Amino acid sequence: MSNLEIIPDKSHTFSKAYHQYPNGISPKFARTANGVEVVTDIGSFTDWSMGLGPIIKGYNFKNLNDHITSVLNKGVGFSIPGEYEFDVASKLLGKLGFGEQVRFARNGSDVTSAAVRLARYITKKDLILCNGYHGWQDWYIGATTRDYGVPKNVKELTKKIAGFDKDDLVQMFKNNRGEIACLIIEPMIADEPDLEFLTLAKELCHKEGALLIFDECWTGFRCHPQGAIGLTGIEPDLACYAKALGNGVPVSAVVGKKENMEKFQDVFFSFTHASDPIGLAAADFMLDYLSGDFFNRLNEKTNFLKESIANIFNNITNDELGIDVRGYCGKIVFFAKDQRYRIKIKTAIQKHMIENKHLFNMFIALAEDHRDSEINSFLSACKSFVEKINVENFDINKETDGFLVQDVFRQTQ
Ligand SMILES: Cc1ncc(COP(=O)(O)O)c(C=O)c1O
Repeated sequence: MSNLEIIPDKSHTFSKAYHQYPNGISPKFARTANGVEVVTDIGSFTDWSMGLGPIIKGYNFKNLNDHITSVLNKGVGFSIPGEYEFDVASKLLGKLGFGEQVRFARNGSDVTSAAVRLARYITKKDLILCNGYHGWQDWYIGATTRDYGVPKNVKELTKKIAGFDKDDLVQMFKNNRGEIACLIIEPMIADEPDLEFLTLAKELCHKEGALLIFDECWTGFRCHPQGAIGLTGIEPDLACYAKALGNGVPVSAVVGKKENMEKFQDVFFSFTHASDPIGLAAADFMLDYLSGDFFNRLNEKTNFLKESIANIFNNITNDELGIDVRGYCGKIVFFAKDQRYRIKIKTAIQKHMIENKHLFNMFIALAEDHRDSEINSFLSACKSFVEKINVENFDINKETDGFLVQDVFRQTQ
C-alpha cells in the first residue's frame, strides 16, 4: 500500500480527509468509481457525498469521458486563447439566460475570489458580507474558526451574516454603511430559497452601492437549468458556478453583465490553466446533458428520500440523539438536534453506514445514478440505525469511543 504519510493530513481536501470518517474502520482512499459505487482500499461502497457535490450524474460517465477525450485529442494548454473557450462561454450564457460575459476557472474558490475582488474594485470599498461557505482563500477563511495563517487585518474585512436572517442582514448594512463592497451569498443552503431574504438582499445592496453575488458553486446546475436565478427570478450582479457544471471534472465560471465583467481587463484574475479545455469540455457536455426534466426527476427523488429518512428518524426515542434532515434540489443535510452530541451522532451514524457499505458524511449529494436499489439500501440502513440506538441500554459514548470524527470548523457555540 502507498505511504499515506507523504501527504499532509493524508488528503488534499479537508472534508475528504480521514478525520471526517470514523477512525479505524473507514476506507483510506478510493481506487476507482463507477456510477455511485466507489472501490476503496477496503472494498466497495455506495457513495452519498459524490465528491462533495460535483458528481450529479455518476462517476466515470462514459459519454462525458468520450467527449472530453475528443477535445483532449485536439491538444490542450494553448499559448493564446482557444476558440473553444468562446463556444462554451456562449453556450453557458445561452443556458443561464443571465449575464453577458463569462470568465472560466477551475475551482469554486477561484471564481468567488475573482467576484469579490471585482466587486471591491468596482465599488472602491473593502468590506465583504457573506452567508455560507465560499472557499479556501484568505478573504473567506479568515471569517471562520479555521483562520490559521490569515492576517488579522484581512480577517476584519469579511463579516458573516447568520444564514438567511433578515434582521441580521439589515443590521449588518446599517452598522457598516459606506463600507460594503459586496454581499456574496449561497442563495439557498439546505432549504428552498427564501424569496423575501433574497429580495431584501438585492434591495439593500443596490441602495448601498454594493454588488450582490450569488455563489452558486453548489446550487448551480443542481436545482434548475438556470440555477437559483431561474428558480427565484432574482438576478444578482454576478454569479459563480462550479461543481455540477463539470460532473467532477474541475471547471468553474463567473458570469455577469458586461458593465461589471469587463472590469476584469483591469482586475488581475489570471492563471495558466484558467481555460483548461478538459474542464470546458466537461461543461460543454454537461450543459446539454443537464436539461429537459433532469432537474424535476432529481428534485422528486430528493423529496422522496428526504421525507423517507425524516419518517424513519422520527422514531428515535432518545431526544438527545435526535436527527433532523433538511434538503432541497439534490441535497439533503443531516443535523444533530442536540448540538452537544453533534460529533458523537455523526460518528455513530457514519460508523453504522460504513458497516452497511455506505460512504456517508452527514449530507447527501443526490446523483442521477442513485437508483431505487441504492436508495432502498440506504433507507434500510437508516432503519437499522434507529433500531440500534433505540435499544434501552444503548450508550453513544461506548459506541463511538475510539472512532470519533472531527469538525472541519470549530463550533463557536
Ligand atoms: C457554495 C460554495 N462556494 C464555493 C466553494 C469552493 O469551491 P472549491 O472547493 O471548488 O474551491 C464551495 C465548495 O464546497 C461551495 O460549496
